[in-house]
Amino acid sequence: MSEPLLSVEGLVVDYQLPRGQLRRALDDVSFNVLAGQTVGLVGESGSGKSTIARAIVGLAPITAGTVTLGGGAAAAPRQSVQMVFQDPYSSLDPTKTIGYSVAEPLRVHHGRELGAQEVRARTEQMLESVGIQASAAKLYPAQFSGGQRQRIAIARALIVKPKLVICDEALSALDLSVQAQIINLLVQLRETHGISYLFISHDLSVVEMLCDEVVVLYRGRIAETGPARAVSNRPRHPYTRGLVAAVPEIDPVARAASRATRERLRKPVAPAPPLEDSCQYRHRCVFATEQCEQSRPALRLTDGPTLVACHRYEEVARDLDEKAESEIPAMTPQS
Ligand SMILES: Nc1ncnc2c1ncn2[C@@H]1O[C@H](COP(=O)(O)OP(=O)(O)O)[C@@H](O)[C@H]1O
Ligand code: SF4
Ligand SMILES: [Mg+2]
Repeated sequence: MSEPLLSVEGLVVDYQLPRGQLRRALDDVSFNVLAGQTVGLVGESGSGKSTIARAIVGLAPITAGTVTLGGGAAAAPRQSVQMVFQDPYSSLDPTKTIGYSVAEPLRVHHGRELGAQEVRARTEQMLESVGIQASAAKLYPAQFSGGQRQRIAIARALIVKPKLVICDEALSALDLSVQAQIINLLVQLRETHGISYLFISHDLSVVEMLCDEVVVLYRGRIAETGPARAVSNRPRHPYTRGLVAAVPEIDPVARAASRATRERLRKPVAPAPPLEDSCQYRHRCVFATEQCEQSRPALRLTDGPTLVACHRYEEVARDLDEKAESEIPAMTPQS
């Protein structure tokens, strides 16, 4: 087995709050990204997804644990890991032409070796490979649609030939049809450029489409992780079940069933205060018992290919199987 491109081991991140207290944003998070793999990070807002991205690029205060780049990425880490954000304006300066912004990382990393002619040629080639005409290089970000701007931000990330591209909610501001186009583009670029993605999203349905593996985060801890399809087809952690039920259904009958499931799974109470020796999800969990208050569930292997941090995952899975049968609307026999 080749060494992972990215290895995150026991990562703990504490942010310093203004009055000197610490806020633990990540608590013992471990996962790998192998070469060519796409790993999804899902969880609601505030679960620590962007903190993981920041820790990987050296911008988060790491209390404990390690982030290791391997598989050829270690030689030039600043170039090997590139980011694409939700808001393309965070990487595209509105006062600069898009050609200038796309070429900027090339100038930063290879300024001395490359002549202006070469930079221009590579920029135009990169723009075309994300579906933007080379002649558009002289235009400004405001002259493009949101989807086009995201293509340009992707071109800017890819121009220095990174090994790993972190997409932090890169599709979240786009319409569904545009999201689908960008997903296709990411898949195509993965093949042509041999890159890996760490794909961050609060939307499990998007992650399921694009990712090989998924890491579900809840308040800084991993709730469940494993092959993306296994996690979304048979979620074992109550939180993941809630996420799966939140995926909008097209079919109105299925939509009503999933709303019922969601309501059953989510108790409308304030989140519990973080306690080291408890399950973070206990105040929202319909399966919670005293044990969940008194001991922190370790991430452990299930009977399937996934890892789950829940004391009661067996009962949760059994409940899911029973409910799945009763919630499927009976077919009306044709007369
Ligand atoms: N610079 C910071 N200072 C203090 N707390 C922060 C800072 N950045 C993030 N946090 C807190 O850390 C937690 C995780 O945040 P974040 O990683 O941005 O989550 P996500 O990307 O999943 O929405 C949240 O509780 C957030 O309020
Ligand atoms: S450990 Fe307990 S509170 Fe936490 S998810 Fe499992 S059943 Fe719910
Ligand atoms: Mg975020």
